[in-house]
Amino acid sequence: MPKPKVFVTRLIPQKGLEMVHEVADAEVWQEELPPPYEVLLEKVKGVDGVLTLLTDKIDANLMDVAGKSLKVISQMAVGYDNIDVRAATERGLPVGNTPGVLTDTTADFAWALLMAAARRVVEGDRFTRAGRWKTWGPTLLMGPDVHGATLGIVGFGRIGQAVAKRASGFDMRVIYNDRNRREDLEKAMGAQYAALDTLYAESDFITLHTDLNDTTRHMIDDAAFARMKPTAILINTARGPIVDPNALHRALKDGRIAYAALDVTEPEPIPLDSPLLTLDNILLPPHIASASFQTRNKMATMAAANLAAGLNGARLPNCVNPEVYK
Ligand code: GLV
Repeated sequence: MPKPKVFVTRLIPQKGLEMVHEVADAEVWQEELPPPYEVLLEKVKGVDGVLTLLTDKIDANLMDVAGKSLKVISQMAVGYDNIDVRAATERGLPVGNTPGVLTDTTADFAWALLMAAARRVVEGDRFTRAGRWKTWGPTLLMGPDVHGATLGIVGFGRIGQAVAKRASGFDMRVIYNDRNRREDLEKAMGAQYAALDTLYAESDFITLHTDLNDTTRHMIDDAAFARMKPTAILINTARGPIVDPNALHRALKDGRIAYAALDVTEPEPIPLDSPLLTLDNILLPPHIASASFQTRNKMATMAAANLAAGLNGARLPNCVNPEVYK
């Protein structure tokens, strides 16, 4: 029996690729940049499965172009807002993702951004390299304390909770907002529920951990910034479009908040002529919150396992639309 055909949209970590090659006749896109949509359409024609990344637009048209042979869409990410899941479900196609494994790694990185932003780590490095470090300065590169501050967590799912857990070592006051109040966790996590407006007004650090959907798109807008403290630091390791980039630019430029550290932007990558890049009070790593060796390897093997299951007609170990099995 010939192996099923799959298209893998980028070079993923080796372990995952090996698993894919074991179960499928795989074409793997080798370039640094994702395949353009038109190329992707060509590549998926007649495949049995596709292993995707969050940079690939997987819409109804693509599913139809792939055709009846398509059995599974396996995404190497926890988020899947690039995939039209409803269209997949209508076609009986299971969609896989990689939840859980990146929770702690992403929470670690949110903390890396929080600490770096507060204590001006990146600015300090630039200062040294520019030859500006002449002496120990009594007021040089001062920033707010992290310990004892108020941390506002927007979105109290797995990653938001992991961020809260880390805050206890810093004696912080932790407040959170979520569609679903989690009274069951509040005591153990040392976190209190707060209405969004209260969270914005009282937090020294605001960190975003919601998914991107119609209610969270641009939820951090002019009105939200207007409620924040002028000393507030905003951290985003969730999805770029949760923050309105024009409102963010106004807020940072006019000192309505102090600083933003964003692992994700709208759009991605951030265009080099974005006005945000003219500001000093913003830190912009290139969407790397889950990029630890261990986690990216696990994400790749989980995505390969979802793909293999789908090709076999078995239930995906991590399926975002289990309705397809009803
Ligand atoms: C990364 O952003 C992911 O959703 O896994």
